[in-house]
Amino acid sequence: MTDFDNIFLKIRRQDEPDLRPYWQEFKVPYKKKHNIVSVLMEIQKNPVTKDGIPTSPVSWECNCMEEVCGACTMYVNGKITQACSTLIDHCKQPIVLEPMKKFPVIRDLMVDRSSMFNDLKKAIAWVPIDGTYDMGPGPRMSPKNHLWAYELSRCMTCGCCMEACPQINSRSSFMGPHIVGQVRLFNIHESGKMQSEDRIEVMKGPGGVTECGNAQLCQQACPKDLPLLNAIGQINRKTTWSGILNWFNRGNGE
Ligand code: SF4
Ligand code: SF4
Ligand code: FES
Repeated sequence: MTDFDNIFLKIRRQDEPDLRPYWQEFKVPYKKKHNIVSVLMEIQKNPVTKDGIPTSPVSWECNCMEEVCGACTMYVNGKITQACSTLIDHCKQPIVLEPMKKFPVIRDLMVDRSSMFNDLKKAIAWVPIDGTYDMGPGPRMSPKNHLWAYELSRCMTCGCCMEACPQINSRSSFMGPHIVGQVRLFNIHESGKMQSEDRIEVMKGPGGVTECGNAQLCQQACPKDLPLLNAIGQINRKTTWSGILNWFNRGNGE
């Protein structure tokens, strides 16, 4: 569809979590440098369909507007991406917007990603330092590990890797590649290392790294190019070694 005065959109809508989704089309006056979020804001100001029929404003989420928070993640023309950094001029029209598929829809393009945050808690994906004690400077990280840590710290819990991973489905409890990446991050952190065995135990259990099927689609889908496959390989090796050591210790009556 080409019309240099307008932007055409087709949006998959859903009024409530349990209601059936439906499609609605919209037309927004063209402006240079619009991105998907700014076009959705235009629809919110004047919620009428392409045919001029008044409708409810489209719901979606966004916070940072600079591809850092992950809240605006959705499908744009079939590709999982961040709406805030997707420029209209790079999109084929009509632009088709759909919510993420691996998370429950709350309304329209807004989904509930709380399972990802709960899994981060399960995997102890932080450095637990409570209180303010003067314990002197913490241990220093080597420059090599620092490079790794920086790469992995750019995860924004957007869920693109979850959408791409075939192991994330209703029959599996796999927590997902981003959790494995964060376990690797906090296990190489000099202070985070204190809980490394606890994290490896989580990774050995239900939903842990052993449920990764090695389809390798997660890294391609990550907008931040996180080295997920390397993290999965590293954590896999750690869980295997930990299993062997436990078995050996049990064999020695410990
Ligand atoms: S390697 Fe494949 S199965 Fe494992 S987390 Fe990545 S996409 Fe999922
Ligand atoms: S690993 Fe990449 S794709 Fe997965 S949640 Fe983090 S930033 Fe998003
Ligand atoms: S609004 Fe934060 S990533 Fe798009």
